[in-house]
Amino acid sequence: MSKPSTIAIDGSAASGKSTLGALLAQRLGYLYFDTGVMYRAVTWAVLDRRLDPADVEAVSRLAETLTIEVKSNGPDDGRLYTVLADGQDITWPIRSPQVETFVSLVSSYPRVRAALTAQQRRIAAAGSIVMVGRDIGTVVLPEADLKVFMHASAEERARRRCREIAAQGKAANYDEILAAMRERDKQDQEKPISPMIPAADAVIIETDHLSLEAVLDRLEHLIREV
Ligand code: DC
Repeated sequence: MSKPSTIAIDGSAASGKSTLGALLAQRLGYLYFDTGVMYRAVTWAVLDRRLDPADVEAVSRLAETLTIEVKSNGPDDGRLYTVLADGQDITWPIRSPQVETFVSLVSSYPRVRAALTAQQRRIAAAGSIVMVGRDIGTVVLPEADLKVFMHASAEERARRRCREIAAQGKAANYDEILAAMRERDKQDQEKPISPMIPAADAVIIETDHLSLEAVLDRLEHLIREV
């Protein structure tokens, strides 16, 4: 059997899907594409242009006209890729707490999802891609050759986030991070359109007690089986 050409990886915040998706793409020589950055880019642009994130019409219009580019090789400052919105480098600003606060709301709007889904399908059409998000296997690429859904408990994901923050030399509050994690899960799961659920034919990987290497091995094993 030939290698799967389109691989969809979905999962919750801090489930490890981005790190694993990037490593897998590197091993396969595929393009890695993290769709979360597109929702973050629209949210960043909404705030930058001083629009009201609750104004569905204005936010939708912006999502339909904003040019988002994701380039694989950025400057050597630890980034996996460079994100541009209408030509402006927003790779780091899209990770700000302000963007975190509003990204769930912005990504709940149907026209925002339609605009970004269409772009994501165009990007994936060339194949040899690992596309990561929340609704890739269910909505964006229902015909993907391999669908994986990464799952980890909120407690484990909060511990991972704490370690990441501590590694940057900053103070991390586990209880606050856990509460925020649960809130975001709730919003992502209860979204009326594209809620975060595994596709019926997705392989579910529980990562709570697995190392990065162990999950990567499982993924590579799955790829050989497809
Ligand atoms: O994976 P992330 O944390 O960068 O995603 C940011 C937000 O974007 C998250 O709240 C859910 C949303 N998102 C989405 O609705 N659909 C996707 N395919 C990817 C992300």
